[in-house]
Amino acid sequence: MSLPKALDGTLELPVLGSPLFIVSGPELVIAQCKAGIVGSFPALNARPVEVLDQWLTRIEDELGEYKAKNPGKKVAPYAVNQICHASNDRLMKDMETCVKHKVPIIITSLRPPSEIVEAAHSYGGVVFHDVINVKHARKAAEQGVDGLILVCAGAGGHAGTLSPFALVREVKQWFKGTVLVSGAISDGYGIASALALGADLAYMGTRFIATEEANADPAYKKALTEFAAHDTVYTNLFTGIHGNYLGPSIAAAGLDPDNLPVADKTKMNFGSGGNMKVKAWKDIWGCGQGIGQIVDAPPVAELVDRLKREYAEATGDFARRARA
Ligand SMILES: Cc1cc2nc3c(=O)[nH]c(=O)nc-3n(C[C@H](O)[C@H](O)[C@H](O)COP(=O)(O)O)c2cc1C
Repeated sequence: MSLPKALDGTLELPVLGSPLFIVSGPELVIAQCKAGIVGSFPALNARPVEVLDQWLTRIEDELGEYKAKNPGKKVAPYAVNQICHASNDRLMKDMETCVKHKVPIIITSLRPPSEIVEAAHSYGGVVFHDVINVKHARKAAEQGVDGLILVCAGAGGHAGTLSPFALVREVKQWFKGTVLVSGAISDGYGIASALALGADLAYMGTRFIATEEANADPAYKKALTEFAAHDTVYTNLFTGIHGNYLGPSIAAAGLDPDNLPVADKTKMNFGSGGNMKVKAWKDIWGCGQGIGQIVDAPPVAELVDRLKREYAEATGDFARRARA
């Protein structure tokens, strides 16, 4: 186990609710942290740029008040996601705001982030970087990140193709920092499996889209309860980077999910849908392969209670079978 000090005694479950473009904002993050799992959001969700400062103030105030009123409760720290890509012209401005607020955890995506690591370490923050393969993991480790998020096959949004059995065990051979794993983890059994593999935290996205506090179209939440792994499509058409999306949302936009063209990467832009008429993330719904286990869209607190019960069942079951 290698968890940063900031997480000591703050978690009800070893889970980080991952950043979700458009979907995660203060309501979701505050509910996740109050329930004892790390909540996060992409800085780019706070628009225009000045709104980031307001969101961080709100999150800190509400969590501070909650802690003061509930001294016996575990309240998790929060994280902000920075997309390190040429199309993100707010990156350093957003990072200045994060430094001002001493954001406990910074999650970086795409390019390995030496300047972000330096900025976060200047006030004692930690950086987790997400990767889909060992080459990128090594590059990020060289930049001094504190944790690696291994985005494996079946993850929602931009995702890799490697099995977690391969990627986690290979990275664990040489990386001594915090290891997070993602890809289709939707229940307590998945969380227990992530830890059994040697990860420190399960990194869960899609499951939290189907919650009351998520900023997602009710039709999107409902669709996640109706479809299953078989209905997801892995394509680079919408952003130039391969990711998993809900096939029926692609069909609703007038495209054939079974016969999608390959994207021209040079014309693509993270988060915008590039030169397509339909908008990735807004019209085309991102989701991982774990949707077959989603049957409802409850409040986050209720979902986390359920995940805790399932996690206890899974670990108890495992211990019993390991003894047999
Ligand atoms: C709708 C959607 C939006 C996402 N937006 C972001 C994002 O803005 N930044 C990011 O780092 N990852 C983003 N992701 C990826 C998730 O943070 C995470 O890696 C993934 O959801 C984990 O897999 P799971 O959905 O199967 O749990 C997104 C995923 C989805 C489904």
